[in-house]
Amino acid sequence: MVLLDGKTLAKEKRENLKKKVEELKKKEGIIPGLAIIRVGNDPASEIYVRNKLKACQEVGIYAVEKHFNEEVNEQEIIDMIEFFNQDKTIDGILVQSPLPKNLDEKKIVSYILGSKDVDGFGIDNLGHLLANQEQVLAATPLGILNLLKEYKIPIASKKVLIIGRSQIVGRPLAIMFLNRDATVTIAHSKTKNLKELTLQADILISAVGHPRFITEDMVKEGTVCIDVGINRENGHVIGDMDFEKIKEKASYITPVPGGVGPMTIVTLLENVYELALKRKKEK
Ligand code: GUN
Repeated sequence: MVLLDGKTLAKEKRENLKKKVEELKKKEGIIPGLAIIRVGNDPASEIYVRNKLKACQEVGIYAVEKHFNEEVNEQEIIDMIEFFNQDKTIDGILVQSPLPKNLDEKKIVSYILGSKDVDGFGIDNLGHLLANQEQVLAATPLGILNLLKEYKIPIASKKVLIIGRSQIVGRPLAIMFLNRDATVTIAHSKTKNLKELTLQADILISAVGHPRFITEDMVKEGTVCIDVGINRENGHVIGDMDFEKIKEKASYITPVPGGVGPMTIVTLLENVYELALKRKKEK
């Protein structure tokens, strides 16, 4: 078994990106900029956003957070997005998900200009993804692909099973694998006989959010196992997969923490940088 060490790869990528950001500033006078909108007090979101801001600071990306309390009305958030849409120092805008239930997340995100949609969650970027004309790709799925690329794990013709159909992970990731010639299956909460499917997978991805959801008997020998789950249990963070047992069967496996999570953040930063490069072309 080989450990897919997202933590180390993400660190290398951040160091690389830091140099490129310095270069862009020196040569073009451009500092990539990210605006994050957060609403309410979801504790996980608070941590994720703090980590995103810290990572931006480390690589020299300018980042601002606008935090609203739960009672905010939709229009105030939309006005903020429109302000950032016009702001020339901002290349990427994201609204941290989930929003409080009384707010229409899809409607709010639709106000982000396609050219600043750094999460790739907008209809424009999703349409391009579906048409196999990929532009900005969502950070978690793209981070997973980058991790597989680093370890030279082939994708074409492989049977990929993705468990979870969220907007953030499962759906975009399925299309990305399809665009790379994999044979893709998406399983979800209404799927029957899941084990039949997992036992066929060459690459198994779990984005469910339940500890030990994937047990060792569900995994065939030699499977590439990608665990997107982040679950808190007795003060520890664990994934969806029963790591200690599955690692004996897997050819490759991501640890939690230290696998997919750090890749997500660095990929977001790389997306901000790529959008800032477009600013250069427009100059
Ligand atoms: N919540 C969990 N992951 C993400 C992400 O990648 N982007 C946003 N905007 N919200 C999230």
